[in-house]
Amino acid sequence: MLSWDEFDKEDSGETVVKGANAGHATEANMDRLDTAGGVAAQEARAVTASDSAAIARAKAALDNLDIAEGLAELEGASARVAVDEKRMINCRADLNQLVPFKYDWAWQKYLDGCANHWMPQEVNMTADIALWKDPEGLTDDERRIVMRNLGFFSTADSLVANNLVLAVYRLITNPECRQYILRQAFEEAIHTHAYQYCIESLAMDEGEIFNMYHEIPSVAKKATWGLKYTRSISDPKFETGTVDTDKELLRNLIAYYCVLEGIFFYCGFTQILSMGRRNKMTGVAEQFQYILRDESMHLNFGIDVINQIKIENPHLWDAEMKEEASQMILQGTQLEIEYARDTMPRGVLGMNAAMMEDYLKFIANRRLSQIGLKEEYPGTTNPFPWMSEIMDLKKEKNFFETRVIEYQTGGALSWD
Ligand SMILES: [Fe+2]
Ligand SMILES: [Fe+2]
Repeated sequence: MLSWDEFDKEDSGETVVKGANAGHATEANMDRLDTAGGVAAQEARAVTASDSAAIARAKAALDNLDIAEGLAELEGASARVAVDEKRMINCRADLNQLVPFKYDWAWQKYLDGCANHWMPQEVNMTADIALWKDPEGLTDDERRIVMRNLGFFSTADSLVANNLVLAVYRLITNPECRQYILRQAFEEAIHTHAYQYCIESLAMDEGEIFNMYHEIPSVAKKATWGLKYTRSISDPKFETGTVDTDKELLRNLIAYYCVLEGIFFYCGFTQILSMGRRNKMTGVAEQFQYILRDESMHLNFGIDVINQIKIENPHLWDAEMKEEASQMILQGTQLEIEYARDTMPRGVLGMNAAMMEDYLKFIANRRLSQIGLKEEYPGTTNPFPWMSEIMDLKKEKNFFETRVIEYQTGGALSWD
């Protein structure tokens, strides 16, 4: 056990124990820790006459705490971590030591994600409420687009969050990537909050919206396709470390980052943002605009993780895995094309299902090439170039020019 006394001694140049970082968590090392901090700790922990029975029990419990056992439960070895020991998966170095960074891009994305922080309540929904209530405000086709997309996204972001927290986080063995994953998980919570905020503001039937992923085939198929890739790796007993299990994790990352966040979101984003460009449902569109900016960073992070795993484990990226990855992206594209047709039975908002199909093929080519696979839709061009502009926008330049939002990071603390 350490006390501040040891840190004082460090200043005087005496040799001190620096916690678990000083060496391996062997029995001998634990003895040194106990001896080094023992006297002060024992004095502080002695039961005195003024201690209640509850306090005495707490002190006694700490006397029996097995430090060696506790440290052994921490993941990885307890030595100081060198950059070269860090690995995206199956890393044996201590995962609680954030630095030195190996993947600077992951830390940068964490910082960028924090800098882009926003909250759904910041967006003014007044005009949307008036338009939604007005029987002449929107066409049936436009209403269908709003309903379907809130239906799909309100549960899709939960699926992504659950997959991150219950499956991916544990299996990505790198602290700077985990730091980003934690940020991403919070952003997914904000997205679900945003959809709920829209549904509530527009006084929609919540049961109908939140059950679309069971009840509406084009929505349900996408959710089911994603869930298939979570099933095995979210089992708490699932471990990576073999070719088969490492490939299973890679499949999950491709399914969620490249297909769910990289393809399944794009028809809906395009439709809602197209509405905003036509000055309809501008609050919902502004929410989607912020979400799209977050999602494009999630996607880029996922692509970097997948490519890094490939670099560190080239044996996983064999012909069979490449074929499978390509098939997954093509299946996802097909499901999104079906979703486009279901949500747009006729031309609406200056777009139609055929144009969306071209756009999705353009997106699919991007996803394929981003993870080093051959493009499968040659000669496809982007019919919606304004989508790329929106994704690249900085927060201070609000696309719809409704207002400039500078996120306030909470009230400042004062010691007065
Ligand atoms: Fe999201
Ligand atoms: Fe996301």
